[in-house]
Amino acid sequence: MDSSKQLLKAENLTKRYVIKSGLFKKEYFQALSDVSFSVEKNQIVGLVGESGSGKSTIGKIILNLIKADGGKVYLLGKNITNNLSKEDRKKISIIFQDPRTSLNPRFKIIDILEETLIVHKYPKSERKDLVVKAIKDVGLDETFLNRYPHELSGGQRQRVAIARAIILDPFLVVADEPTSALDVSVQLQIIELIKRLKEEKGISFIFISHDLNVVGHIADYIVVLYKGKVMEKGSKEDVIKNPLHPYTKLLLESLPPAHPKYRKPFIHIKEDTGYQEGCEFIGRCPIATDVCKQKPTYKTVDNREVYCHFV
Ligand SMILES: Nc1ncnc2c1ncn2[C@@H]1O[C@H](COP(=O)(O)OP(=O)(O)O)[C@@H](O)[C@H]1O
Ligand SMILES: [Mg+2]
Repeated sequence: MDSSKQLLKAENLTKRYVIKSGLFKKEYFQALSDVSFSVEKNQIVGLVGESGSGKSTIGKIILNLIKADGGKVYLLGKNITNNLSKEDRKKISIIFQDPRTSLNPRFKIIDILEETLIVHKYPKSERKDLVVKAIKDVGLDETFLNRYPHELSGGQRQRVAIARAIILDPFLVVADEPTSALDVSVQLQIIELIKRLKEEKGISFIFISHDLNVVGHIADYIVVLYKGKVMEKGSKEDVIKNPLHPYTKLLLESLPPAHPKYRKPFIHIKEDTGYQEGCEFIGRCPIATDVCKQKPTYKTVDNREVYCHFV
């Protein structure tokens, strides 16, 4: 990739959580294994995978909300792993799934938006204009500023969360399942808003979702995760139209029939056999053989990286 276009780079991120801490022995859960991907300027990267695949963990590591055990995160070439300065913090922000819990119910919208500016020591004289600009940027008008979160619909609340995420004019917004708590019609509006913010303001997004259908609508580039491991990554067109990894094929097969042109015949979904050695996907994979008891390496096929012995 042309490095002048590169905004963020995640390199070999590894994370394990302590799930049991005994007197003599700790037990760990491997949430991420060597996850690497990049985000270019003015690009939406979709992270997709089922619940528990490590998507939020990646977002939290990038934002420095939790520490990685291994690997690096670079923002414009600068190492920000576990060490995000206050200045850099202005350049990356996050939106969470449920705006009911992420917006303080006791604050009016104006106070919610202004708070971010106060934390970053913006003078009072500049704050009002920035708040008004942010609320308009997300398609709401000034009258919303005097309301409380409970006086808004779910979609409007999520717009306020997005306004807060863009008020400091960031390079990158991590959107962690921002549409999952919304009705389908409202989901589409939020997706359109995110696309517009990318086009008009040049903001890049890491868009996290368990739903490949949603990611296929919004992302320019797709990273498919399973059990904390990247199974396949490539441009949206390549991954959706011609998935190479058996897991991506499985995800696509489960798309609703509204998108028949993307559907391909595929072998049936298996229950996880629970087999742990080798490829992370071995227990669910319909084409696994003995060779899969060894870990695959990444293979580059048509500008894509695929983690499978059979590509
Ligand atoms: N603080 C934690 N302690 C222990 N396990 C955790 C913690 N946070 C997440 N996990 C586990 O790590 C895995 C990945 O979690 P997460 O990144 O939230 O996945 P996703 O966002 O894809 O659903 C899950 O199995 C989850 O249960
Ligand atoms: Mg999550």
